[in-house]
Amino acid sequence: MAEISERREVRVRGDDATFGFAAEPDAGRLVIREDRGQGDGEELCALTISDREELSGFLQGLRRVLGVEEGQQDATPIEQRPQQGRRASPGPRGDGGLPTGDPGPRASALAASPGAPPRAPAGLTPPRRRSARAGVSRAATRPTPHRPPNARYPPTLEETPIPRPALARAVDAMLEATTVGSYTRIGHAVRSRLERWDALHELDGADRRVVVTGATSGLGEATAAALLRTGARPHLLVRSPDRLEQLHERLRGRLAGELVDRITHDVADLADLSSVRAAAHRLTVDGAPVHALIHNAGATFDRLGYTDDGLERTYQLHVAAPLLLTALLRPSLQAAAPARVVTVSSGGMYTRRLDVEHLIDPGAGYAPLTAYAQAKRAQVELTAAWQRRADRGGVDAHVMHPGWAATPGVETSLPRFATGMRPLLRSPAEGADTIVWLALADLPDVEPPVIWHDRRARAVHRLPTTRAPRGEVDRLLRRVADDVGLDPAACWRHDSGP
Ligand SMILES: NC(=O)c1ccc[n+]([C@@H]2O[C@H](COP(=O)([O-])OP(=O)(O)OC[C@H]3O[C@@H](n4cnc5c(N)ncnc54)[C@H](OP(=O)(O)O)[C@@H]3O)[C@@H](O)[C@H]2O)c1
Repeated sequence: MAEISERREVRVRGDDATFGFAAEPDAGRLVIREDRGQGDGEELCALTISDREELSGFLQGLRRVLGVEEGQQDATPIEQRPQQGRRASPGPRGDGGLPTGDPGPRASALAASPGAPPRAPAGLTPPRRRSARAGVSRAATRPTPHRPPNARYPPTLEETPIPRPALARAVDAMLEATTVGSYTRIGHAVRSRLERWDALHELDGADRRVVVTGATSGLGEATAAALLRTGARPHLLVRSPDRLEQLHERLRGRLAGELVDRITHDVADLADLSSVRAAAHRLTVDGAPVHALIHNAGATFDRLGYTDDGLERTYQLHVAAPLLLTALLRPSLQAAAPARVVTVSSGGMYTRRLDVEHLIDPGAGYAPLTAYAQAKRAQVELTAAWQRRADRGGVDAHVMHPGWAATPGVETSLPRFATGMRPLLRSPAEGADTIVWLALADLPDVEPPVIWHDRRARAVHRLPTTRAPRGEVDRLLRRVADDVGLDPAACWRHDSGP
C-alpha cells in the first residue's frame, strides 16, 4: 500500500491532505510534507538521517506502524496472484535492502533543516502494532472477489485514505520511538499540525487563579505569558523580587499592560520550607479558590548540598517542597473543584527507578543528573499515587515532561547539550504548551498512571527495570510527609498496591 517514488517517498493520504515522507539519500534527510493541493506541499519538518539504511528503515518502520504494505504497479489479475495478502515484492530498488523482520527504523540523527545533524541517543524500535489503531485493517490489503482485473494490488496509500487521527497516532509513535524526533521542536511542529491543536489562547482561563512556581525564567515564564492570554490570573511564587521585576518588564514588552497587571505574586523559596508555609498561608487565608497549581520550579546542582531544613537540595526543590505546597493549598484547590495540580517532570526520569534512600540522601554517590532524574521519577510516582486515590476531593493531578527546550536552566546546567542541539531545541513556549493545556483544557479520559508529553498521555515506564519495588511509593510518601511535618494520610496517600 505504500507508493515509493524515485526519491523513495511514502505518500499517505489523510482525510484532507496527503502527507509525503520523502527519503532524500543524497541530502541524508527525511522530509515530511503536508500537501493540500497540487503544489509541492508545505514542509512540516526535515529529519537528518545520514545513514541510508536507516533512512530506508524509517520508511519501512512507517509502513509497519501504519500497518500497511508497500504498493506496486502490477498488471497481473488478482485471480492469478499466487497468495493472498502476501507481502509485495520490493521491486528493483526494494525498500532499502532491509530483510523482513528488521527491527525497524533507527533515526539516529535528526535535525531540522538547516542544521548540523547531532547524534541521537540509541534508537528505539518503533511499535510493531498493526492495523487496528492505524485505522487500516489488514482486510484492506486483501483482494476482494469484486475487484476488477488488472487493478493495482495491493492498493496504495493514495487509494486508501487513513483517518487523520490514525495517521497522527502513527506518526506520533514514530517520533516517540526516535526520542530526538519527539523531544525536539520537530515533535511539537509535526504533532501540533497533524493533530490540529487548538491554540492555547483559545482556552478559557477567565478569572481562574493559577499558582505557578519558577515563573521568573524559561518554561515558567512562558507558562505565565500563555496563562495571561487565556484570561487566567497567574499567582507567581518567586524566590527573588528582583527577578520578578525583570519578568514584569519582559512581559510588558510582549503583552498588553492590563494583562500583565493581572499577575499577583508572593515570595517563596522552595529551598526554605518556612517560606513555603508562609506563602501558602497568605494565599489560603481568605479562602479564595485556586483553580490550578503548577509545580514548575526546578534545577540541577553541581555538588551535593543541603538546605537549612536539612534536606538534600534536589530532593527538597522537586519533591518535598511541592508536596508541602500542594497539601497546604488543598483547601483552596478543593474550593475551586474541579481543580488541577500539574507537575513539570522530565524525560530524564525514564532512566531511573524510584529509590527512596538514594533520593533522600545520595551521599558519596551523588551525581547531578542522576539526582535530578531520581527526583523527576519521584514526581511521577507521587502523581500516580494521587491518581490512584479513590477520594481526590475534586483535585486531579497530572505530570508532564516538556521535551527539550532552550531555557536559561538548560543553558546553565547542560551547556554543551544546549550548544549542540540549539537548532533543534523547542522554544520555551513550545515546551510550556502541555503545561498550560493540562491546567486549563478539557482532557481526555486516560487510565493512570501516565505522563503527558505534547498533549498525549504516555507510559510512565519504557523499561521494566524502572518499576518501583512494592511498597517503595508508600515509603516515599511516609518519608516526605515526615520531612515536611505532615500527616501522610493528610496529603498524598497511596491507597492501593502497585
Ligand atoms: N528546559 C527543558 O528542556 C526541560 C526539560 C525537562 C524538564 N524541565 C523542567 O522544567 C522546569 C522549568 O525548567 P526551565 O528549563 O524553565 O529552567 P529555568 O529557566 O532555570 O527556570 C527555573 C525556575 O525555577 C526557579 N527556581 C529554582 N530554584 C528555586 C527555588 N529554590 N525556589 C523557587 N524557585 C526556584 C527559578 O527561579 P530564579 O529565576 O529565581 O532562578 C526559575 O524561575 C524544571 O522543573 C525543569 O526540571 C525542563
